[in-house]
Amino acid sequence: MTTNNFPKGFLWGGATAANQLEGAYQEGGKGLSLPDVMPGGKDRMKIIASPDFDFKIKPDYVYPNHIGIDHYHHYKEDIALFAEMGFKCYRFSIAWSRIFPNGDEETPNEEGLKFYDSLIDECLKHDIEPVITISHYELPLHLITEYGSWKNKKLIDFYERFARTVLTRYQDKVKYWMTFNEINSAAHFPIMSQGLTTSNGADDKKNIYQSWHNQFVASAKAVKIGHELNPDMKIGCMILYATTYSYDSNPKNQLATLQDNQANNFFCADVQVRGHYPAYTKSLLARQGVQLSDIDYTDGELALLAQYPVDYIGFSYYMSSVVDVTHENQETADGNMIGGVKNPFLKSSDWGWQIDPTGLRIALNQLSDRYQKPVFVVENGLGAVDKPDENHYVADDYRIDYLREHIEAISQAIDDGVDVMGYTPWGCIDLVSASTGEMSKRYGFIYVDEDDEGHGTFKRYKKKSFDWYKKVISTNGADL
Ligand code: BG6
Repeated sequence: MTTNNFPKGFLWGGATAANQLEGAYQEGGKGLSLPDVMPGGKDRMKIIASPDFDFKIKPDYVYPNHIGIDHYHHYKEDIALFAEMGFKCYRFSIAWSRIFPNGDEETPNEEGLKFYDSLIDECLKHDIEPVITISHYELPLHLITEYGSWKNKKLIDFYERFARTVLTRYQDKVKYWMTFNEINSAAHFPIMSQGLTTSNGADDKKNIYQSWHNQFVASAKAVKIGHELNPDMKIGCMILYATTYSYDSNPKNQLATLQDNQANNFFCADVQVRGHYPAYTKSLLARQGVQLSDIDYTDGELALLAQYPVDYIGFSYYMSSVVDVTHENQETADGNMIGGVKNPFLKSSDWGWQIDPTGLRIALNQLSDRYQKPVFVVENGLGAVDKPDENHYVADDYRIDYLREHIEAISQAIDDGVDVMGYTPWGCIDLVSASTGEMSKRYGFIYVDEDDEGHGTFKRYKKKSFDWYKKVISTNGADL
């Protein structure tokens, strides 16, 4: 298909997160972070969900985030490859535990900042616009073990200090920011974004809502700091969005779908974009056994939310979901991190995530209609098993097909009138999977020779999709 409606300046690029690619988990003064104690493998989430999980490194597990893809020592080579593809932007995160190793120090770790100075300068040298996620699933461990994580209001101050440090340092170099990665993912798996699991209070829903409230306040503070430093800064929220369908026209399923959307897709963005809690907050909390009076909030905090909403909506999109509350024994979409009923019209990835490009067009329209602000697809992609040939070449036509169909959906949404800022496919270079800690779940245009145990040469090889994406960018999406 050819299409030529992508606006001039459309931000084509790719996305990563510090903890999933940097490695060097104890270098440069870095402290331990949550992913450093998350074992690799398909049972990662089960192990963490155990009531006995104690946030400690154990000799009998492998910890892939310790090594990542050793981007810490390869970042120049990696950014040069992104530049060769023609990236206009690169979305990455700053590891909080490199800047404040324990999270509660008064002064930042200069060595950590130096690493990001160089990383950012390297991007700018290649005319790549940095797009930074301030916090991407990477809490300093100490903030979890000593403070009980985000349910403790003290984390607002620690985050503020971290955000102020990096926003100030990079105010003249970085225009695009996001405050928290997939802030709403705590509705499904609170460990990653809130540092909460069964062993430290995740099963009590009021902790989830208190953590969100604290994060909303922290996010608003970051927007305030950023805009005061540089009014041109664009600071977005970042949500996990899964277009959610009703299984059928039964009004009970329709109502359940509406409520599911409120709980899982919209609640956090409603607060962060509109600057106030939505009218359905009380009933949403009540459905989960939480009262408004359970939440510790002040008028001053609510005023801050109102005064400093985000500038745009960043979101990840991998899959859609189906709601059915009327049939028993329905086949479930187990692979979907967000659950739901299996959709008979969709195929799934190797990891069971249901693939739905049309759902992306719907998502873009829904978010744009609801918020009337620009939207940015900051994650999308296919996690697949790649089989390199003897020259380490991966002919990943399946990935090209996936990305092409999703880019077409974006193009159609642009025709629908949606203001789309850009597209940064996830894991533009192979990295450690967040949900399973595997290397074998690959998303990249660039193959990294490394296995699930962290063995390999760490050499980088261009996949077939590398040249394809280069052509897409050079034609501004006209040649897919
Ligand atoms: C998003 C996260 O949920 O999905 C990323 O923001 C993550 O950190 C990505 O890596 C893909 O998920 P996974 O589990 O396949 O790595």
